[in-house]
Amino acid sequence: MATTIRKAVISSFSTDPSLSNVAVVSAPLPAPGKKEIQVRVLYAGFSGADVNMARGTYPMQRKAPLTSGYSLVGVVAALGANADASRSPIGSYVAAVTTYDAQAELVNVAQRLLCPVPPELTGSDSLLRQVAALSLDWATAYGMVEHTARVQAGQKVFIHGLSGAVGKGLMSLCLLRGATVYGTASVRNHASLEAAGATKVFDYRNKDWIAALRATGGVNAVFDPLGFESWDESFSVLGETGILVGYGGNQAALSADKKPRSPWPWIAKLVTRSLLPLGGRRTSFYFIKPGSAGWQADMAALMGLLREGRITVPIKAVWDLDTEGLREAHRSWGSMPGMGSLLIRVAGESA
Ligand SMILES: NC(=O)c1ccc[n+]([C@@H]2O[C@H](COP(=O)([O-])OP(=O)(O)OC[C@H]3O[C@@H](n4cnc5c(N)ncnc54)[C@H](OP(=O)(O)O)[C@@H]3O)[C@@H](O)[C@H]2O)c1
Repeated sequence: MATTIRKAVISSFSTDPSLSNVAVVSAPLPAPGKKEIQVRVLYAGFSGADVNMARGTYPMQRKAPLTSGYSLVGVVAALGANADASRSPIGSYVAAVTTYDAQAELVNVAQRLLCPVPPELTGSDSLLRQVAALSLDWATAYGMVEHTARVQAGQKVFIHGLSGAVGKGLMSLCLLRGATVYGTASVRNHASLEAAGATKVFDYRNKDWIAALRATGGVNAVFDPLGFESWDESFSVLGETGILVGYGGNQAALSADKKPRSPWPWIAKLVTRSLLPLGGRRTSFYFIKPGSAGWQADMAALMGLLREGRITVPIKAVWDLDTEGLREAHRSWGSMPGMGSLLIRVAGESA
């Protein structure tokens, strides 16, 4: 039986600052499919992916209209006929990367995409918010640090957007590994990032970091969510055996004119660099693999670190699931003060 829910809708692709293409509407949700779980969403993630999806520039995205919401933490509300009740009991807490549809009161999710959240992490709203941010932002950071770059103690890394959602995760995980961290952020965030362990933070409005890093002999890994020309600059600061890991195309949305650009030629260039004779230098584009065994294992590792108090996930802002809240999230992404992950509160506690 269908249920009426409130959900976010991107009705068309547009760069119009009025954001009239973004709204929260009431709409029917069917009962979960055979292998689906219906989840009551507490918090959904908000990220550069949502902004790029509303602009129509997210790689391989759905056509409009679509419901945004890349990740969630929530509670199992109903099971499809062939879903495994022992894996997702009604009332249990789950996290997921759904790519779409999480900014909604209820969502039907393929069971394989869900990861159980242990009871030790469900006791407070603060912990649930952190788990919501782990599922996409920090799982992406963990995958790049542990599996793609394989950061080791004593290595030097450079992280664009240290203050960002994924950037903050990258910084904490590289520091846990014993690496020396350099990166970029707004000047207003430099002191707290350096107090938290970054060796040197640069202003992204100039290119001073390029000469400074070359002067150190280059770095072992660069993590770059900006894409486009930024990947050429990032490649230029690699040491002889360094790796450049690209994972987004934020540069267009963050530029002054915000003109939409296709990321594809630049992704192709990044990936083909690894096919050329580069000496020891490598390149990679990282994609999170929602629900995969690797993602499940990474989430288990991250939730373990959170439980042990070895990581704390900063939450920069939380907006309510209503049209004004959602438009404000789109409007202020990339320019608001603070550091860390962004969330949409669907049914979690008020701040
Ligand atoms: N490939 C994957 O699997 C995957 C998974 C998750 C996310 N992503 C991608 O990762 C990217 C990161 O997104 P996010 O949501 O975590 O964003 P974010 O990093 O939180 O974005 C904001 C960051 O950008 C910085 N910034 C603002 N203006 C800038 C400018 N003009 N130049 C350089 N940096 C600037 C901000 O610094 P200040 O706040 O200090 O000003 C802040 O650190 C997105 O493109 C998303 O699609 C990819």
